[in-house]
Amino acid sequence: MADNRIWWGKDGSAEFPSEKKFLSEAKDGVVNKTWWPYDFAGSTRQASAELKALFDGRKAFDTPKPERLIYRALQISTGEGDLVLDSFLGSGTTAAVAHKMRRRWIGIEAGDHARTLCKPRLEKVVDGARRHLETAGWKNGGGFRFFRLGHSVFDEGGHVREGVSSHLAAHIWHAETGVARSGGAGEQAFLGEHAGIGYYLLFGGIPETTVGPGKGLLTRRLLRSLPKFNGPKVIYSEACTLSAEQLREADITFRQIPYEIGAR
Ligand SMILES: C[S@@+](CC[C@H](N)C(=O)[O-])C[C@H]1O[C@@H](n2cnc3c(N)ncnc32)[C@H](O)[C@@H]1O
Repeated sequence: MADNRIWWGKDGSAEFPSEKKFLSEAKDGVVNKTWWPYDFAGSTRQASAELKALFDGRKAFDTPKPERLIYRALQISTGEGDLVLDSFLGSGTTAAVAHKMRRRWIGIEAGDHARTLCKPRLEKVVDGARRHLETAGWKNGGGFRFFRLGHSVFDEGGHVREGVSSHLAAHIWHAETGVARSGGAGEQAFLGEHAGIGYYLLFGGIPETTVGPGKGLLTRRLLRSLPKFNGPKVIYSEACTLSAEQLREADITFRQIPYEIGAR
């Protein structure tokens, strides 16, 4: 107070005091402000106009953010090549701006507009469509992949859910081989061969696993009934009665469900 650094508003009646900071004392560079005026960070009106321009005048989303706002946020918090996640993607502004600023990005959206709005918007960014916005001097380029999430394989307790064997098969295949499992294989114990290794999944619901005393239990009898594969095998099941030596002889690596189901 003695130094006249405390400010109580224009007429001295502010509820809370503010501390004055003089330009001469500030370090080089721009101090981030909590108040971003529209000429710095865009406006909601601008955001709606941007989106309408991209979608032929159609009002595609109720609460879009201006690209300039996200641009400012990414400018102060990320660098080129960084990974930006927006798990509530909305109209896709964050992903669009991140792409234009040469950041990598992941967008997650539960609504159908993931497909009807975010996807076409990002395709326009990649293609450099005529009416895309001038953010970050963007022209065109790059790309992205669009995935639809399947049912979750595990429940809250970390147990594999009932009736998810085809999802589980897809998950295991990807975790083991690094590539997506191309359809066709359906629900069967032998998932296929990759790089000389045969992969099997013995789990409830897969017909062959009902042979033998318990479903999903790897026994010698069940092993004999499985489709043959000449070479090293990786077999996933909930339990196994074969000894380590028997597994070695049969060239089998046993992986127990759910503990040894990996993720990439
Ligand atoms: C306000 S918008 C997000 C705006 C966006 N992040 C932006 O910066 O412009 C919120 C979005 O979250 C989506 N959403 C809500 N719950 C979700 C969930 N559990 N998983 C994924 N998306 C979800 C809604 O469908 C909606 O599109």
